[in-house]
Amino acid sequence: MNIAFENTKKNLKRIEKFYEKTKTDILVFPELSLSGYEIENRRTLKEISFEKKNKEFKNLLRISRDMNKAIVFGFSEREGNKLFNSSMLIDERGRSFVYRKSHLFFNEKRLFDKGDTGFFTNRVKGAKVGMMICFDWFFPEAMRTISLMGADIVAHPSNLVMPYCQDAMKTRCLENRVFAVTANRIGEEENYKFTGGSRITGVNGDILADSGKKNECIKTCFIDLKKSRSKKINKENDLFKDRRRELYVL
Ligand code: ACM
Repeated sequence: MNIAFENTKKNLKRIEKFYEKTKTDILVFPELSLSGYEIENRRTLKEISFEKKNKEFKNLLRISRDMNKAIVFGFSEREGNKLFNSSMLIDERGRSFVYRKSHLFFNEKRLFDKGDTGFFTNRVKGAKVGMMICFDWFFPEAMRTISLMGADIVAHPSNLVMPYCQDAMKTRCLENRVFAVTANRIGEEENYKFTGGSRITGVNGDILADSGKKNECIKTCFIDLKKSRSKKINKENDLFKDRRRELYVL
């Protein structure tokens, strides 16, 4: 028996329990939430990775359909010889969509292949939801792209180890007028200490929910989609229409 793989299955069961009992339209879990973050080498990583259509996900598909809700969670994905740091969205109809992390952080560069899905959005119960994973936040182009695609909510599974993201997300949300759900790890692994402080951030950079840094918990809040649908910050300024693309090097 592969102990590490058994642990990923235990984590999946825990996620199913949390998902089943939480009354919310969409619930977001951290990056690599089945395996944990620190994986010694690519061989071990391969053993604990899941194909995106793996039958182990069938309970999550069923809960989504039966309870008419959606989930996003990070997992290590295997496709042929490739390994991706991925995030799966299962919508309320039980359809699954996978985003593969675009910007790999530090040792992830040794373990994973670079994500090749690019950014995209999907409809979840009338809201448009995009995904990025942890370190992707450091590249403003990521959240800008997802927002220009019309996202209301950016689901952001994370295993943050640097102290900057939670505050920076206020600006990311403010400059794009989108909501973001940063679901972060708490605790430690051998070489990493995770910063906790999961947050739901609003379109004005306001903190709508905050987990604190110490305990595992679930926080929910109401999201008003009217707010993310208008990019106006006053009568004269619309953050998207006022862009001067001819002046930018991007
Ligand atoms: C990170 O991208 N997990 C820091």
